[in-house]
Amino acid sequence: MTEQKSLRILIVDDEEVLRDVLEAVLRREGFEVLLAASGEEGLNVLDNEEVDCVILDVMLPGISGIDTLRAIRISNPTLPVVVITAFSSIDGAIEAMKHGAFHYIPKPFKNEEVVLTLNKALEQRRLSRENEWLKSELSEKYAYSNIIGKSEAMRKIFDLIRLAAPSRSNILIFGESGTGKELVAKAIHHASPRARNAFVTVNSGSLPPELLESSLFGHMKGAFTGAIATKRGLFEVADGGSIFLDEIGNINLDTQAKLLRVIQEKEFMRLGSVDTVKVDVRIIAATNADLQKLMQDLRFREDLFYRLNVITITLPPLRRRREDIPLLVNHFLQKYADENKRLVKEVTPDAMHILMDHTWPGNVRELENTIERAVVLCTTDRIGADLMPEYLRYPVSTEQPAMVVPTDGISLKDAVSRYERTMILQSLELANGVQKKAAELLQLKPSTLNEMMKRLGIHARSNAGVESEAVAE
Ligand SMILES: Nc1ncnc2c1ncn2[C@@H]1O[C@H](COP(=O)(O)OP(=O)(O)OP(=O)(O)O)[C@@H](O)[C@H]1O
Ligand SMILES: [Mg+2]
Repeated sequence: MTEQKSLRILIVDDEEVLRDVLEAVLRREGFEVLLAASGEEGLNVLDNEEVDCVILDVMLPGISGIDTLRAIRISNPTLPVVVITAFSSIDGAIEAMKHGAFHYIPKPFKNEEVVLTLNKALEQRRLSRENEWLKSELSEKYAYSNIIGKSEAMRKIFDLIRLAAPSRSNILIFGESGTGKELVAKAIHHASPRARNAFVTVNSGSLPPELLESSLFGHMKGAFTGAIATKRGLFEVADGGSIFLDEIGNINLDTQAKLLRVIQEKEFMRLGSVDTVKVDVRIIAATNADLQKLMQDLRFREDLFYRLNVITITLPPLRRRREDIPLLVNHFLQKYADENKRLVKEVTPDAMHILMDHTWPGNVRELENTIERAVVLCTTDRIGADLMPEYLRYPVSTEQPAMVVPTDGISLKDAVSRYERTMILQSLELANGVQKKAAELLQLKPSTLNEMMKRLGIHARSNAGVESEAVAE
């Protein structure tokens, strides 16, 4: 057997005899043992040492065992704590359980019992660690360059990125706002042989046409009023790399003609200059506009469209790949918990319900903002339904859930639940939160409505002065 680092146990007990007995027993079993005579001392040890498990007496002088336990839970949420209680103080044991001790040993105890419980606690820690590891493994598998998703639709996107990245071809990315167009553009650049050169983003939508042209192609000193010095354009900056033209649908026809020339001739002129500049730039363009329509209206050049659209990537809206929502939620939870130094570990099933049900018109960006807000406002280690924004909990929209079967299929059961949920939320809205009235509107018995609300995780609105028995705990 390979040599194994022995596990370290911290014993916190004010009775010296008990400490000594336990220490002897545990050492015999091959554990390394640290000792503390009070809660303060114990917490001090934990601040400075790596420990695998704590054995804690609940009856302690100074800070109580329960307060010590609470402090451990906050600073070290996954550390198993085995609590020792006198038989007479069963209340103490219950209290300890409430504060997150999963194992307790009643006094007086047999030595084997201590060892057994300790091993159980350690096994649980091992499993939960393995689980964490597995989770991070999974997220590796379901992410490509920070793009999260396991849905069929997203897997196809990953494949497409892998295939497209190494080529020289221009790429056109379609997708609603917030679906990750810029993220995908970056991923393509970083997976391409151009990764060591610049990735330049141009937001074509936000600049007036003259400014856009001068920023893309540069200008000579005196080319126009205000051009006080010669300036390189972004195409020169991106030479050897990639340029990301966001909102390509907003570019006017003049600039489109110049873009076409860069693509065809790989050269252009700075504003006010007659010399051509040669560049090697890959263009990744993105839009959420309907370019077909713009072409019909003669507002987008067809030849430019075909030059850009060598490889098309169409990002699916989030509502078409709901199975990615939990992964994304966990991803953003971790991200913002780290960023804000919070211990938030998960969202409650109720909150997840609400997140799964929303139609996410702002797509991943909207979801990300929702989670960031919840993490910042969260004061415990779980995000509950109460931290979901009001408009998600009680949507006022009368929009019906889409009755469309996506190409990659849909769970009819989930779709029906969503439909039920929307109808119930709307009738509650109409009835000002009064369940009896809402039930009438839906021609249901109040008890049936109440059951459905429980099943669908719909909370009764307490501010409407309504009974809140439907709050599923
Ligand atoms: N699949 C994904 N995995 C992880 N994060 C994502 C994913 N898709 C989008 N995001 C995040 O959502 C936010 C919006 O993404 P991005 O800016 O790429 O969207 P967009 O399509 O360019 O939006 P817009 O059209 O509004 O500019 C970013 O913070 C991005 O990191
Ligand atoms: Mg964008």
